[in-house]
Amino acid sequence: MSNKIVVGAQWGDEGKGKITDMLAETADLVVRYGGGNNAGHTVIVGEEKFELHLIPSGILYEDKKSVLGGGVVIDPEAMVEEMEGLEERGISLANLYISETAHVIMPYHRMLDALEEERKGDSKIGTTGKGIGPCYTDKTARRGIRIADLLDEGRLRAKLEKALDYHNVLLEKVYNAEPLKAEEIIKAYQPYIEKLRPYVTNTSLLLNEAHKNNQKIFFEGAQGTLLDIDYGTYPFVTSSNPTAGGVCTGTGMGPTTIDDVIGVTKAYLTRVGAGPFPTELENEQGEYLRDKGHEFGVTTGRPRRCGWLDIPILKHAVRVNGLTEIALTKIDVLTGLDEIKVCTAYKHGEEIVEEFPPYLESEIPYEPVYENWHGWEEDITEIRDFEKLPENAKKYIKRIEELIGIPAKIISVGPGRKQAIIR
Ligand code: GDP
Ligand code: IMO
Ligand code: MG
Repeated sequence: MSNKIVVGAQWGDEGKGKITDMLAETADLVVRYGGGNNAGHTVIVGEEKFELHLIPSGILYEDKKSVLGGGVVIDPEAMVEEMEGLEERGISLANLYISETAHVIMPYHRMLDALEEERKGDSKIGTTGKGIGPCYTDKTARRGIRIADLLDEGRLRAKLEKALDYHNVLLEKVYNAEPLKAEEIIKAYQPYIEKLRPYVTNTSLLLNEAHKNNQKIFFEGAQGTLLDIDYGTYPFVTSSNPTAGGVCTGTGMGPTTIDDVIGVTKAYLTRVGAGPFPTELENEQGEYLRDKGHEFGVTTGRPRRCGWLDIPILKHAVRVNGLTEIALTKIDVLTGLDEIKVCTAYKHGEEIVEEFPPYLESEIPYEPVYENWHGWEEDITEIRDFEKLPENAKKYIKRIEELIGIPAKIISVGPGRKQAIIR
């Protein structure tokens, strides 16, 4: 038995799709446990590029089961579009399973996401606009609509009418928007419901049976530790728990079934959307990382903000996820830089702070304290043996391991499935 979680250790887009795809070769099931189509996971297989938003990266292997757990929020239209896109490319969906208890993103969720961002103006979060926050809000407010509700038209109509009793007041009175009609939503969603119907099942049962039969399960995180509603840079976060704890609630698997937690981390740092970012580079070095790392959002196309690696953030990720190892990605992007910086602590007034502060709002800024490292010139994208890396790259990686206290067992040196050093 070896069930593993692949979790983002930073602000998302760390390369979770690539690492999951690479490791999925040895798994029997690949499972998404949270988030929705706010995620964008890139997987490159040979010459082909796949951008997955909701469907686990394991779908690219015909013999693996791909599961969307109950913690995921599903926009039926986006889901069907993704399914059809894969089918058109010859990818089989025969092994796809969708939880009955996953919550459904409704048109009013997408509207409210956009309207609320507009209302916030300068203090907006910079969400992906996919309706994620409003959908999770309805879930906790106990007026959400779940996948199983879609399958019974009478129940769907009753729940939708109830939800609209609330949402139409909000739309009309708070946001000055047009109200919605249950009948129209049902009509629009009907073709999606029929497409999803055969895939819906009790995924907690499916997963626990697989586990009992000694099958290997990989949990594919979406977003990242610092976007977690509890452990991220609140309120500039998403509305779910992308951290490892989210696996249990998001799949119906108990904590004793999980063996390893792999934290995926870039060799530098990026963030999309608003919120604090102490090591952000708003200069040509930041541009360099963005250009060379192709740092543009998969879901929204927005340029990602770029900065140096932040060790207090990684130590926080090690702790709150119980990481057993890291997968260090995009180290090839650093090739060609004369100098590479690593933030090891923050200066907060006269104080040196070594742990990531749970509350960054402060009149006194948290200024990064940097260590400077020499870069390297050699192309490392074809290296598969750690010892063959340039000395300065090895020093950089060893120093990161020393600072965070866990090993980098996977070092990714390019976007392709085979471009990695496994130690
Ligand atoms: P995810 O959301 O965590 O799955 O990451 P994204 O797919 O949003 O962003 C990661 C980007 O980096 C994608 O374009 C990947 O193809 C690419 N990528 C992943 N690992 C590496 C790597 O080691 N080197 C380079 N150059 N690109 C990588
Ligand atoms: P993957 O899985 C990067 C960010 C948004 C915004 C905040 C809230 O590809 O790593 P939301 O739409 O979730 O309410 O937006 O969270 N965000 C991501 N940033 N990668 C992601 O997913 C993200 N999913 C959400 O940019 O700042
Ligand atoms: Mg992404």
